[in-house]
Amino acid sequence: MCGIVGYIGKNEATPILMEGLEKLEYRGYDSAGVAVIVDDKIKIKKCKGRLKNLEKKLEKEKLPGNIGIGHTRWATHGEPSDTNSHPHFNKSGTLAVVHNGIIENYIYIKEWLESLGYEFQSDTDTEVIAHLLDYNYDGDLIEAVSKSIDKIEGSYALGVISEIEPDKLVAIRKDSPLIVGLGEGENFIASDIPAILNHTRKIYMLEDRELVILSKDGVEIKTLEGMPVEKEVYNITWDAESAEKGGYEHFMIKEIYEQPKAIRDTMNSRIMKDSDDIVIDDINLTAEDLKNINRVFIVACGTAYHAGMVGKYVIEKLARIPVEVDIASEFRYRNPLIDENTLLIIISQSGETADTLSALRLAKKKNCRVIAVTNVVGSSASREADDVLYTWAGPEIAVASTKAYTTQLISMYILALYFARLNGEMEVEEYRLIRDEMLELPDKVNKLLEDKEELQKFANNNFGHMDMFYIGRGLDGAVSLEGALKLKEISYIHAEAYAAGELKHGPIALIDEDIPVIALATQNELLDKMISNIKEVVTRGAKVISFTLEGNTDVGKVSDQVIYMPKTISILTPVLSVIPLQLLSYYVAVHRGCDVDKPKNLAKSVTVE
Ligand code: M6R
Repeated sequence: MCGIVGYIGKNEATPILMEGLEKLEYRGYDSAGVAVIVDDKIKIKKCKGRLKNLEKKLEKEKLPGNIGIGHTRWATHGEPSDTNSHPHFNKSGTLAVVHNGIIENYIYIKEWLESLGYEFQSDTDTEVIAHLLDYNYDGDLIEAVSKSIDKIEGSYALGVISEIEPDKLVAIRKDSPLIVGLGEGENFIASDIPAILNHTRKIYMLEDRELVILSKDGVEIKTLEGMPVEKEVYNITWDAESAEKGGYEHFMIKEIYEQPKAIRDTMNSRIMKDSDDIVIDDINLTAEDLKNINRVFIVACGTAYHAGMVGKYVIEKLARIPVEVDIASEFRYRNPLIDENTLLIIISQSGETADTLSALRLAKKKNCRVIAVTNVVGSSASREADDVLYTWAGPEIAVASTKAYTTQLISMYILALYFARLNGEMEVEEYRLIRDEMLELPDKVNKLLEDKEELQKFANNNFGHMDMFYIGRGLDGAVSLEGALKLKEISYIHAEAYAAGELKHGPIALIDEDIPVIALATQNELLDKMISNIKEVVTRGAKVISFTLEGNTDVGKVSDQVIYMPKTISILTPVLSVIPLQLLSYYVAVHRGCDVDKPKNLAKSVTVE
């Protein structure tokens, strides 16, 4: 999704804007631009394609100035082009605006502005904001922004500058992320913290429709009605380096290798070796509250949804509470049966995914209790939910989610154990067994990360295929979906995941020697069935690579390649089996020469519907 950076202060704006935009590249974009006030005039440089193209333009004509806004655009309205890139500006070029989000009533506003004589250069929804600001401008930029906001519907994070008032940068958000960075003699806005972390660690998180006025020496926040807003300053403790590649070729592989630490950090001080207590600081659900809950919904998108599928399985198995898992974009439109006896768990790495937030808000309206499982402290999800369980994965930059997924799985286990202990479904002995196995997971993941030769061999032999199948039963079925998603999003190979028992009901018609099959066989109680399913595809010519636990040599006997994983209890195998699947996707994508961290058409954080 689009990225925004804004700067006002003692230093030159352009290098800071460009550095910030580079840090936001992970969000996905297809054009970029900056607007800087140079000698009392707004100068705009923008173009289609990567930041390098913009850099070249800026080398030809430098933009020295101390106030500016920058943008990376992920096209929604209008193709990626120089003209459709942001910043957009009014007719006289005296003000410029950058926008992340979608203006839903832009056609109506556009037609109205056109009837007043405004001419549009681009196909974007954002350009209406520039002209609307112009229409409402009467010598006061703050008032112009307030009046314009009144007219627009949809989602937005906006940064606005005007050469008539070159001492201020005005910003506002609704349903799209925007933070404010507080410096000494300089201040910043950005879509995400890494964009400004080299300059400040002091951050304001903005609520919807809070108007921010930044000057060189201060930041003022008001409601649209003009009432001052007091804000807590967040001090960011992680350093900029955790959002850098640190010697790895790609963020994705760095993040894959960070998983043992991320898993350990997420369990740390919540489940402990010598204690039978589960400590979750930000969840205040009592045994009484849980008694009143008759159903749990887990709602999320993409990888987070796949973690939710594992969550359903373990909460039902351990805590014996019925759970439904829903894709967030479907949930909100199907009039779900939810009320004050429903617990909604939303899972979101970013905590800013538009569909997931809408599900959260719908549930709040219906008086459900909402727990957010998120990786971003201060994100919209963390602020709007009743309770929060943070995944301590650290910043995840690669578009393909890896360490967020494994820490989401850990969070699902922690919640399931917590509920089971709270409602008396689990004896302490069973708890200890699962807890001790969980605490061993980081070392087992480490071991898996060391054994990559077989996966590289598979990638080497199979990267040219255009289709692959993933099969598994029970929890392996859920992990297969995640494995297939990883492969398709970064290597552009068509990958299907199927519950292995479903193959013979249709999809087996597609199986032949051109379709490698990736078989997960970690569920010991389903092993015989799974071996039969592997034989079914082998008989039809498929080459099979299987993933199973150490000692299951029968699986090896029916497969062309086999990866043995350290033993653990059945419910915990997803944390292990996904690791080689992530590596496999990564090596295949690298072989194919794909842009692993920034796959085409994808954005890290999907902040529009
Ligand atoms: O930030 P979220 O966890 O809410 O994001 C949800 C999905 O957009 C995300 O998991 C997406 O599917 C990833 N690209 C998967 O690798």
